[in-house]
Amino acid sequence: MNAEYDVLVSAPEISEKIRKLGEELTELYAGEEVVVIPLLRGAFMFAADLIRAMNLPVRVEFLGAASYGEETVSSGEVRLTLDTSFPLHDKNVLIVEDIVDTGLTLAYIQKLLQSRNPRSIRSVVLLDKPSRRTVEVDLHRTLFTIPDKFVVGYGLDGPGGFWRNLPDIVALREETENTHSE
Ligand code: IMP
Repeated sequence: MNAEYDVLVSAPEISEKIRKLGEELTELYAGEEVVVIPLLRGAFMFAADLIRAMNLPVRVEFLGAASYGEETVSSGEVRLTLDTSFPLHDKNVLIVEDIVDTGLTLAYIQKLLQSRNPRSIRSVVLLDKPSRRTVEVDLHRTLFTIPDKFVVGYGLDGPGGFWRNLPDIVALREETENTHSE
């Protein structure tokens, strides 16, 4: 047992859900191309596994969005730290996000990408903390609903930017819990 954290979602549970989501998306977009857009940095690992579970012509673009500064409470302001490199007009856009908390980040990104007139736009989210939602956000799929705990691992970082390389998703105990990051 680890003194610093509790495992909320294990690596095998994650890969099983991603396998199923990949199959579902393969059927949904059959015959079409998809532009997969992971939101950096937390969604990079989820996206890397998801695209390998999708048997489709896929392109990958990255968006960087920072929703939290030094504080644990979102200001509601989202800062774009990296933008896509080609027009999304008439493309099937699949946004890949690590976690939806207040919903502010994803709502902002959805509005931004919608303004570029894609053919379709959907969001798939690894973790959902519905108890913290302040804005309504359209989610095509969420893989795991979790309680209001600060989680790290499988791409999500914690204090100091560490913990992303843990294969499981874990809740940090009080003493290690700290600020949110991008
Ligand atoms: P929202 O805008 O409040 O929905 O926040 C979403 C962003 O906050 C995510 O993309 C994460 O980067 C970050 N975030 C929220 N909760 C957590 C958490 O428990 N662990 C790590 N990052 C988190």
